Amino acid sequence: MANVARKKLIAGNWKMNGLAASAPEFVRIVGASHGLKGKVDLAVFPPFTLLTSFATASRGAGVLVGGQDCHDKPSGAHTGDVSAEMIADAGGQGVILGHSERRADHGETDAEIRAKAEAARRAGLVAIVCVGETEAERKAGKERDIVGGQLAGSLPDDAAPAHVVVAYEPVWAIGTGLTPTLDQVAEMHGFIRAELASRFGEAAAAEFRVLYGGSVKPGNAAEILAAVDVDGALVGGASLKAEDFLAIANAAG
Ligand code: 13P
Repeated sequence: MANVARKKLIAGNWKMNGLAASAPEFVRIVGASHGLKGKVDLAVFPPFTLLTSFATASRGAGVLVGGQDCHDKPSGAHTGDVSAEMIADAGGQGVILGHSERRADHGETDAEIRAKAEAARRAGLVAIVCVGETEAERKAGKERDIVGGQLAGSLPDDAAPAHVVVAYEPVWAIGTGLTPTLDQVAEMHGFIRAELASRFGEAAAAEFRVLYGGSVKPGNAAEILAAVDVDGALVGGASLKAEDFLAIANAAG
């Protein structure tokens, strides 16, 4: 499929990391973002406790700030949960949904993730919807079945490239230092784009951004980001240090 001009997106998922003392790292990312404007899009997803301060710090700069999950309802009796509307109210513009750690730790299902993606749309947030197989599933040759099923179940029918980004994160590559071969990355990203084409049409599929996530570091970013159909990275551990995150962003630009 022709590779239309999809600007690469480098997104940092801070997971359950970061205290008020981490703000200077984010401020350095914001400071460097001006030089990267036009070349690459940047996003940082801090814990909810830092969302407002990061959103304030990034105002006027080119760094999207968002949450790492949201509830599907706008408000109500759901102790401990945060809605998409609350993320938007706090200055967030995006949300990560269906990360494998939430699927594993909180038993999130595809149907729940789809409802959350609909909530993100309702609140005007960009949703990064995560999919990816476990090591056992890949060893069994089931990675396409798993990822195809997650896409079919997690993406709303009205998903569109302007407000939905897909992230392919093989579970066995997350936090392990292991990465798929470049052929495996290109093969899965091509499969995901073909699945998007069959559901949303060729024109939309050519515009959806499909990120790779799992042990992306400054040392491997350039080759991963150059792989066919890879439109950016969802970075965990290496996004916590501005220097590493910016090195990855520079590899994309
Ligand atoms: P690591 O980059 O730490 O492997 O984490 C990837 C990830 O889960 C991003 O969402």
